[in-house]
Amino acid sequence: MKRTLIHNISRIEGIVAAGIQSLRGAEMAKMQSIENGWLLIEGERIAAFGSSEEMQPENIDERIDAARGLVLPSYCDSHSHLVFACGRETEFEDRIKGLSYEEIAERGGGILNSVDKMRSMSEEELYERSKTRAWEAIRSGTGALEIKSGYGLDTESESKILRVARRLGKELPIEVKTTFLGAHSFPREFQEDQDAYIDKIKNAMIPAIAAEGLANYIDVFCERGYFDKVQMEEILIAGIAHGMKVKVHVNQFSSIGGLQMALKHNALSVDHLEVMTEHDIEDLCASETIATALPACSFFINIPYAPARQIIDKGGILALATDFNPGSSPCSNMNFIVSLACINMEMTPGEALAASTLNGAAAMELSEDLGSITIGKRANLIITRPMDSLSQIPYYFAKDPIGKIILSGKVIA
Ligand code: NIG
Ligand code: FE
Repeated sequence: MKRTLIHNISRIEGIVAAGIQSLRGAEMAKMQSIENGWLLIEGERIAAFGSSEEMQPENIDERIDAARGLVLPSYCDSHSHLVFACGRETEFEDRIKGLSYEEIAERGGGILNSVDKMRSMSEEELYERSKTRAWEAIRSGTGALEIKSGYGLDTESESKILRVARRLGKELPIEVKTTFLGAHSFPREFQEDQDAYIDKIKNAMIPAIAAEGLANYIDVFCERGYFDKVQMEEILIAGIAHGMKVKVHVNQFSSIGGLQMALKHNALSVDHLEVMTEHDIEDLCASETIATALPACSFFINIPYAPARQIIDKGGILALATDFNPGSSPCSNMNFIVSLACINMEMTPGEALAASTLNGAAAMELSEDLGSITIGKRANLIITRPMDSLSQIPYYFAKDPIGKIILSGKVIA
């Protein structure tokens, strides 16, 4: 097996003992680090690491000079809508002129605007556009990515999105998990008959998507004007019956019981959480469900940030993700997410790293293999530009910290 040694590392960050699947509460600040390190890769896995004062391994096939950069685990972005047709810059300008995100949606823009474009785009064109975006995410340090459907809202278009997502996972050096979000909005043709759309999701779309093996998870946008908690439950039950775990949009603009409904169905993660009551926080932190905060959405559409500090202080498991999508978060760069978490959510750089690596991996059921510097895990690594502390990534916000990207043991950028 090929042996690759990364040497001249200023610090290795994100070290976790084998067997730890996620970090909750105060543990999030406790990923380990080593100053002046080396790291050995055998084949596609992390074989050993240590400090330069210790003996370095011999019989090396390839040496990579980290040039005094940090080595970190690759980011695991557990919430994205990366497969979309086009950006929505016109709505961006409408918001600058004073309309809110919700007002734009009420006028028939928003998600439904993306649906019109999606339905008319060929699968090949959609793949090419999505591939470009996925490469941008990879180059900014993401090694694993969850991708949702939700801009098709009919069986054919939703399947098209998920096929494209699966293909990205096969053809690009990134791990992809997929989520069916047929319940993202009521499509125009079902505006007057919501029950009929829910029936279609349960009895036509979910079975078709499951038959093609296109989705790992089931999602619902539980929100005023979208799906209420009762409609959500019906859809979750149908998804679960087809082997999909629950991973949902709740509490973005209002607290309407979706969070508790998701917990009742053992959600893997509940995502957004910008509007949380004390009760919501208590219920969430007492559970095994991962709280996924999406700070770029708060930043971009000017809504509150998820109460990350309270969730961590109350012992919850918190992950950070981009929510990359054309309406509320046109950002796929996890470095910026880490900055926002530190600047606007009172998270320390160490907590933000745990949230965007190991806990993100856990929110995609990948933490056995990814999300930390652990012997035996896949060598998905970021080597940063020269720097001597982790804080420099969030501190120099909007500056690209990436030196090299290693995925499955290979330098790919
Ligand atoms: O996660 N909130 C629902 N869905 C997306 C935004 C969808 C859109 O505006 O296109 C989100 O923020
Ligand atoms: Fe989202």
